[in-house]
Amino acid sequence: MEQLERERFVAEVAVHLRDGVVPMAPFTMENPVAAYTDPAHTRRERTLVFDTQPMVIAVSAQLPNAGDFVTDELTGEPLLVTRGEDLVVRAFFNVCRHRGTKVVCEASGSQRRFACPFHGWTYDTRGTLRSIPESYAFPELDQARRHLSEVPVVERHGLVWRLPSGWDEADLIESLGQLDAELASYRAETYVLERSEQIEQPFNWKFAIDGFLETYHFRFLHSKTIAPFIRGNYGPTTTYGHNIRMMALRSSYLPEVAEASDVVDPMPHVAGVYILFPNTVFVWQGDHLEVWRMYPHGDDPGRSIMTASLLAPKATETAEEQQHWDRNWAVLMGTVLDEDFAVSRAAQAGFGSRAQTHVVYGRNEPALQAFHRSLAALCGSEVR
Ligand code: FES
Ligand SMILES: [Fe+2]
Repeated sequence: MEQLERERFVAEVAVHLRDGVVPMAPFTMENPVAAYTDPAHTRRERTLVFDTQPMVIAVSAQLPNAGDFVTDELTGEPLLVTRGEDLVVRAFFNVCRHRGTKVVCEASGSQRRFACPFHGWTYDTRGTLRSIPESYAFPELDQARRHLSEVPVVERHGLVWRLPSGWDEADLIESLGQLDAELASYRAETYVLERSEQIEQPFNWKFAIDGFLETYHFRFLHSKTIAPFIRGNYGPTTTYGHNIRMMALRSSYLPEVAEASDVVDPMPHVAGVYILFPNTVFVWQGDHLEVWRMYPHGDDPGRSIMTASLLAPKATETAEEQQHWDRNWAVLMGTVLDEDFAVSRAAQAGFGSRAQTHVVYGRNEPALQAFHRSLAALCGSEVR
């Protein structure tokens, strides 16, 4: 967060806490259950949301050096993301231009050439087709036109963003608005990947995000884990176009920050939750960052696939540092998988009962409302 915004934020929170105010939306909101259960709705989300919005497909820390690469299929399309010898990140469909099989089967690695396992056609980090075994058999083929199909990406703020068709970096910056400078302030491009895990769950992809967007549930669901450390039912929310920031206050926020007459730095006392719309959750955790990417599993509204990554400010060197991250990871997974995702699994199952036609987002859940309002606007569905 930049200095001016820190001052504004601290002043706003001080008033809230002094007056006992909970930041609220003007109305409660109802969203059709079909948004979580209807396969046609999931298909609309793919074409009307995922294909039209910039989307984080990797974090820079996954491929810090020239020749590093990652593959990814969470978007539903096989992607290969490389860092070239010029240090530029590029992305391609991981689809061989001979007969279409997957060129790179490893999840990640470092190499300058990618040889297709089927017949050995070989590409470089720029996607250029460099060699064809028995090339005399393809005399009519224009080798220069058989490079891997490129997917437009830009690397910005330590994240690799897939751009919608026709967009360039200036469009991304414009869509982020003031959030661009705020993301820059976290310097995620200087972080290293401590660990990452792929997770599949039997619930709609939006449930994985919903849990990050309100603290109303903390006192109940997280009473034995993180509730003592985070202020419940309080989430001052700011929107930047479709992107959202919800700040959660750590228990250390009082009285040190709120009662100070001078502005002090709020950052050690908050957890900053950002929805990089539509499906990335970027979390400032004080001594580290988290990046979550959530996707529908195919067109199945009742299944999701996601990755969680923990980014550390520097490479782990000592056993104590390793224990610190191990503990952090255990708390994160214990809270999210065993608590948040447990109620989401139960909710998805409950939707099958036809008990109700709509779910409700309270006035005290403004970030959650903003997320679903944006989705509904793009999908042409009705929230009320
Ligand atoms: S399919 Fe890749 S070389 Fe044949
Ligand atoms: Fe939660």
